[in-house]
Amino acid sequence: MTEFSEIKACVFDAYGTLFDVNAAARHKQDALGEKWEMVSEIWRTKQLQYTWLRSLQDNYVEFWQVTEQALEFALQTAEISDNQLKKELMELYLQLDAYPEVAEVLKSLKAAGIKTAILSNGSPAMLQSAVENAGIAESLDAVLSVDDLGVYKPHPSVYQLAVDKLDVAARHVSFQSSNGWDAYSARDFGFNVLWCNRFGQAPENIPSTPDQQITDLKQMLPILGL
Ligand code: LAC
Repeated sequence: MTEFSEIKACVFDAYGTLFDVNAAARHKQDALGEKWEMVSEIWRTKQLQYTWLRSLQDNYVEFWQVTEQALEFALQTAEISDNQLKKELMELYLQLDAYPEVAEVLKSLKAAGIKTAILSNGSPAMLQSAVENAGIAESLDAVLSVDDLGVYKPHPSVYQLAVDKLDVAARHVSFQSSNGWDAYSARDFGFNVLWCNRFGQAPENIPSTPDQQITDLKQMLPILGL
């Protein structure tokens, strides 16, 4: 492992790390009522399950379709049958709120001469929309999508994509994810990893352990010596 003071590139997971995955359902609280949190949680859980299942099946479709199919499952579970609401929730997924510290942290990294990138399951159009909506496009050197590979995280080829596209060795990369399984897998691949454990999740029992835990992205700056 490289010291975090020798980092040349910071690579970020998108959903849950930079962008608030609960924002879409939260913005539709009026329509979803008290079921909004349940819908949001099932939507996210099922969305991730479908990425893993499709990768195992060698049956890739892009994240937009996976996200819609997961939302259909969540609404059906909540016994909500409303096609218009489904469409509106999907539209909102293109404009998820960024967490409040994200823009400043990216600017600080750029000012320090560190490369910055997103590495995400998201389809290119979804990521572009979220990045533009958050106003962070100028602070990112690259927005990398698994769509180039046709397989989802945590396949090691996804983490390798960042190494190849950024032309920075894994030991000089700091990877940040709020998703425990993603943080552990990125560490197993060989990145230096900060698990941004926003949701106070318990440790995972899969190979490798992230180097450090933080609870918001601002906390990464002193670790990198900034
Ligand atoms: C992503 C999901 C895992 O952005 O949050 O890749």
